[in-house]
Amino acid sequence: MDRAAVIVAIDGPSGTGKSSTSKAVAAQLGLSYLDTGAQYRAITWWMVTNGIDITDPSAIAAVAGKAEIVSGTDPENPTIAVDGTDVGGPIRTQEVTSKVSAVSAVPEVRALITGLQRSIAASAEKGIVVEGRDIGTTVLPDADLKIFLTASPEARAARRSGELKGADVNATREALLKRDAADSSRKTSPLAKADDAVEVDTSELTLQQVIECVVTLVEEKRDAK
Ligand code: DC
Repeated sequence: MDRAAVIVAIDGPSGTGKSSTSKAVAAQLGLSYLDTGAQYRAITWWMVTNGIDITDPSAIAAVAGKAEIVSGTDPENPTIAVDGTDVGGPIRTQEVTSKVSAVSAVPEVRALITGLQRSIAASAEKGIVVEGRDIGTTVLPDADLKIFLTASPEARAARRSGELKGADVNATREALLKRDAADSSRKTSPLAKADDAVEVDTSELTLQQVIECVVTLVEEKRDAK
């Protein structure tokens, strides 16, 4: 018997282990995987590359529909392309990271990317893990399972500076808190925990423990469907 397709929303700020957890859970359970942060980074990369003034929301809104963003949803090899070009590397630069909050706050950008996310989730026959900031609250409010990952600023900064190969922990912590503040305070679908999300504090957990916890929650939901 085919197992029921489950839609899993995993939200939370950066440095909580969201991407590593989401990919591993999807791979382990045979689900598709969507990194929605990569989509916002991709449109930001397009804006920067095309010389758009990102301090001007109306300039961003006017051209937002021009970038064709395609996400590959294999958790073992997630891809992201803009206008046919693989931008998996360029979207992780410091320049894009520092500008993505401004671009992703523009309502026209969010409407476009949200539509894309919903159509990807709807066509995932085996189910999907979608990670982001507003998946449980806005993009997929009817998801079967919503998880909200948290961690102390110290734990998150330590993880992020490790990923950035020895970047200064204090500077990383400041940059991370600044981006959280911008993402949480924007008017359109801010970073927020859905009322019916399960909150998991990962500060004291290993990645393996977080993965096991989420896999158990997904299996329970899947068995109940
Ligand atoms: O997860 P990340 O760091 O790659 O996300 C990059 C940015 O994209 C983040 O600062 C906020 C934005 N984002 C968003 O606004 N909504 C989402 N669903 C995912 C990311």
